[in-house]
Amino acid sequence: MTTRKVLAAMAIAGLAASQPVSAADAGGAIIAAQCNGCHGFEGASKGVVPALNGKPALLLSQAMKDFKSGARKGTIMNRIAKGYTDGEMDNVAQYYSGIK
Ligand code: HEC
Repeated sequence: MTTRKVLAAMAIAGLAASQPVSAADAGGAIIAAQCNGCHGFEGASKGVVPALNGKPALLLSQAMKDFKSGARKGTIMNRIAKGYTDGEMDNVAQYYSGIK
């Protein structure tokens, strides 16, 4: 193995180790790739779409669950939230809350 391959393997192993997720639920960073288009790189939106970075994980995951159930009305988030399990919402909420 080249040094570069070893480093890449270590990076992948490190990512896997830092993401305690169940097998069925996608990890936070993977889900966030589908959110960043609107919420900004790393959730740091400067536009009309609210920023997600650094907000409490509980607030973010509850917002997603409320969008999914319809308890909270949005323009687009109700449809988007339907695509994720509760576990995935928790994962992506953890991911964004960890970005300052
Ligand atoms: C098509 C653009 C778009 C995408 C993609 C998108 N969002 Fe949103 N999001 C919005 C808009 C717009 C709002 C404001 C509420 C509304 O109008 O639906 C919002 C609101 C939110 C809120 C509430 C934030 C707050 O502080 O009130 C959360 C949490 C959220 N989005 C999470 C996510 C996550 C997680 C993803 C990826 C799975 C995602 N969003 C993908 C556009 C988007």
